Amino acid sequence: MKKTSNLKTQAPAQSRAFFKDKRKEFCSRLPDNCIAIIVSNPEQTRSNDTEYFYRQSSDVLYLSGFPEPDSVLLFVKRKGKTRFIMFVLPKDAAKETWTGRRFGVEGAKRNFGCSEAHTIEEFPSILAELLSEADQVFYKLGRNPTIDNLFRKEWLKDQKPLSNPEDILHQLRHVKQPDELELMRHAAEISALAHSAAMRAVRPGWHEYQVKGVIEGVCADNGAPDVAYNTIAAGGNNAVILHYTTNSDELLDGDLILVDAACEYRGYAADITRTYPVNGKFSKAQKQVYEVVLAAQMAAIAAAKPGSTLNKVHAAAEKVLRDGLVKLGILKKGMESAKTHAEVVERATKKKCLDKTAHLGRFYMHGTSHWLGLDVHDVSGVEKKKSKALELAPGMVLTVEPGLYLPADDKLVPRKFRGIGIRIEDDVVITEDGCEVITASVPKTVADIESLMAGSAEE
Ligand code: GLY
Ligand code: MN
Ligand code: MN
Repeated sequence: MKKTSNLKTQAPAQSRAFFKDKRKEFCSRLPDNCIAIIVSNPEQTRSNDTEYFYRQSSDVLYLSGFPEPDSVLLFVKRKGKTRFIMFVLPKDAAKETWTGRRFGVEGAKRNFGCSEAHTIEEFPSILAELLSEADQVFYKLGRNPTIDNLFRKEWLKDQKPLSNPEDILHQLRHVKQPDELELMRHAAEISALAHSAAMRAVRPGWHEYQVKGVIEGVCADNGAPDVAYNTIAAGGNNAVILHYTTNSDELLDGDLILVDAACEYRGYAADITRTYPVNGKFSKAQKQVYEVVLAAQMAAIAAAKPGSTLNKVHAAAEKVLRDGLVKLGILKKGMESAKTHAEVVERATKKKCLDKTAHLGRFYMHGTSHWLGLDVHDVSGVEKKKSKALELAPGMVLTVEPGLYLPADDKLVPRKFRGIGIRIEDDVVITEDGCEVITASVPKTVADIESLMAGSAEE
């Protein structure tokens, strides 16, 4: 058979011990005499009686790897001892013929390390019994309306204090263990390979969806058939739409294309963006803006180290972007010393020139980083504002993705820069003394991109 993989690493997989460790740690953080319930994601209708491809809840994946819908993980902690109970769809030969094989109760017990398993129909009666013996229950409403209804009905009859299991679980998920990092490096490596392939393949006259096809095909070819999020392949002025997923336009000679795409590998996401010329050669104006974004990204990566925060990483990027835009004549001189967007707006308002004065937020309207893990916008266990002030520590994984978006119809942008949208995004793991860029193999300097696109880069 033809060898399609150029991957350096063997495909890693979660072992039974992987999930057992995660469950052990979760249960150790639960108070005594409680029950904790984690529910599966619901299925979502795509059209009439067909569904979108099913993706399990990341919390269920983290604690068990169980892939089926209509399932519940239940943990009982009593006198320091824990039980792990699963509720799953029953075996059903007729239904399985139509919609796929199920593990059933016996399969759940055999393969997923639970001490007991029951059918999902038994969930209400067993829940009632366990509620009566518990002091406290951990359940997050709003994740699965069908299971919420079953839960609510029993809980209303026996209203034990209710807490959110995600406060504990998401803090745990925030810091990745070595076995998780191995999976994430693999997701990153596959996605990087796909980006390089797309960069080599693209040409004027292609459509955006063909680039998406190359990326997703290479990922599948290398053992990662699922995307971590909807692929963004945005030519020209489409790149100023941050999450452009229409991907339907023709790619024009002289335009850039922004590609934000990555696979999910055994549940874990990568998240990469590269922006490059459709014809393989940056124009002078494109290069000028690109160099500013790249310098901002390098400054932000340098700030991604233990003791720093997402806020500090963002500030490092913003400083370079602000100075760069002044040099390019896109931001007005005299405004660049302002530390915040609010200050620029205040100054320009006072001078009665706000309508003629752009501030950085007009061209850079998103954060520089988010956490990465089982979810592409991963969890930290604390609300967003606090999350950005958390001290970075080894094992945390984040993206670094500054950009500049200069719309074709923005009169405050010098004409030669209009219609340019650029984002450069890498994934980094915080280490003891800095960070490891796990997506570094995709070219990102102007010279390296042009060299790869000209076919002269070393394989
Ligand atoms: N791909 C979505 C993001 O970069 O956040
Ligand atoms: Mn991202
Ligand atoms: Mn992205």
